[in-house]
Amino acid sequence: MTAEPTTRPSPALARAKQIEMYHRALKTLPGGTDSNFRAWGEDTIYVDRGRGGRVWDLDGNEYIDLRMGYGPVILGHADPRVDDFVTERMRMGVSFSLTSEDEVVAMETVKQLVPWVGKVRMTVSGTEATMHAMRVARAYTGKTKIVKFEGQYHGVHDYALVSVAPNKMSDLGSEDNPVGLVWGRGIPEVITKTIVPARFNNIEFLRNLFEREGGDIAAVIVEPVLGNAAGILPQPGFHKALRALTEEFGILLIFDEVKTGFRFARGGAAEYFGITPDLATYAKAMGNGYPAAAFGGREEVMSVLPDKVSHGGTYAGNRVAAAAARKTLEIIRDTNALETIRDTGLRVQAGLKEVLDARGVPFHFTGHPAMFSPMFTEKVVTEYREWAATDHELYDAVAVGMHARGAMPEPDSREPWFMCEAHAQGDTVDRIVSIFAESLGVALDQRARHQSLAHDAAAAYSA
Ligand SMILES: Cc1ncc(COP(=O)(O)O)c(C=O)c1O
Repeated sequence: MTAEPTTRPSPALARAKQIEMYHRALKTLPGGTDSNFRAWGEDTIYVDRGRGGRVWDLDGNEYIDLRMGYGPVILGHADPRVDDFVTERMRMGVSFSLTSEDEVVAMETVKQLVPWVGKVRMTVSGTEATMHAMRVARAYTGKTKIVKFEGQYHGVHDYALVSVAPNKMSDLGSEDNPVGLVWGRGIPEVITKTIVPARFNNIEFLRNLFEREGGDIAAVIVEPVLGNAAGILPQPGFHKALRALTEEFGILLIFDEVKTGFRFARGGAAEYFGITPDLATYAKAMGNGYPAAAFGGREEVMSVLPDKVSHGGTYAGNRVAAAAARKTLEIIRDTNALETIRDTGLRVQAGLKEVLDARGVPFHFTGHPAMFSPMFTEKVVTEYREWAATDHELYDAVAVGMHARGAMPEPDSREPWFMCEAHAQGDTVDRIVSIFAESLGVALDQRARHQSLAHDAAAAYSA
């Protein structure tokens, strides 16, 4: 699968309809979109449709989708197995604020897939799931503080938006004494008194923290890999040490499996890393793109519900989400979809490795073959602060080049590539690799040209 890089400049994509839509949308939606994460100015992509592993924008450009909606679309866009079931159930009415069999079956299936989960409830988004898991942890322990790791993203509620994505790494404070940095205005400073930032892969830091403040700490919430920072991996033994340390200090462990759940393994990253947390949050892959989410955990911890903790939601467990979760989880349970996705990811990784080795670009794969990043760095990165020292400028240039050539990773190296079951079809893997190769070739050649111009200018100046 060798794909020879060429130096063909980026082909220009048709964008007229999307630019028109952007200016129209700007008059109504802040930034022209419903999420800050998709507000890319005139480059904002307006989608027409998706099918399998492909997506088409409003101007008719076709891409191999490597974003898959930031992860939820695990099987493929418009998967008929899920969509037909959802459509059939929808016809029976979607919102009753009453409980349907689909909800019960969906949550029973979560328990089958994640046997350590004793009780689980549906929410609509990952944000709600992490918010409720934190509340349950606080209620169960009677303690207030939650430890979260720098660079980890747990959604958009106030307690989640601390030390996520600073403009400069130095804004996070010193390495020994990080500050809780709120993301954006509108979040009361008092939040930072209850959310304590920590450094991933650093057990010594956590032990010191627990010795100082453990009596006030209800839980540690952790993305098992830094799924919002290129999938930076735990060092061997980190999660086991984290589990042991939390148990030693009577602190709960929440695995935020919004990205990893039903993707890394049927039982999520907890199964993959061999850990039994106390609570976990799920969303994304559990509904193949429909807005289904859940939080659950050990029976005893979850026993604060329903009497002692507030949890509700008009749309929690609505028919569309419940049917989508029921069908998607059944497919994950009963077919080899996850094995197919992992194998497809491994094939893509093998192709990228060949290309990168041929060009002498130092790199490491982070994450899991179903959700990974090619991180351009000599040194293995172990925490968020180190991401800044990777060659993310090269990554961004490659990602932009890939867009122009018909494959769409997120144009920010912090977002991993997401594989879906449908990527196994046809020549998709070969195309991803050849588009990557061509884009890398152009980005490296452009960089070499800039460096040589800068060198000539410096020589002329000193002459
Ligand atoms: C690990 C993690 N937790 C929580 C969330 C929030 O989920 P949602 O966007 O469904 O609110 C995300 C979203 O990307 C996530 O990656």
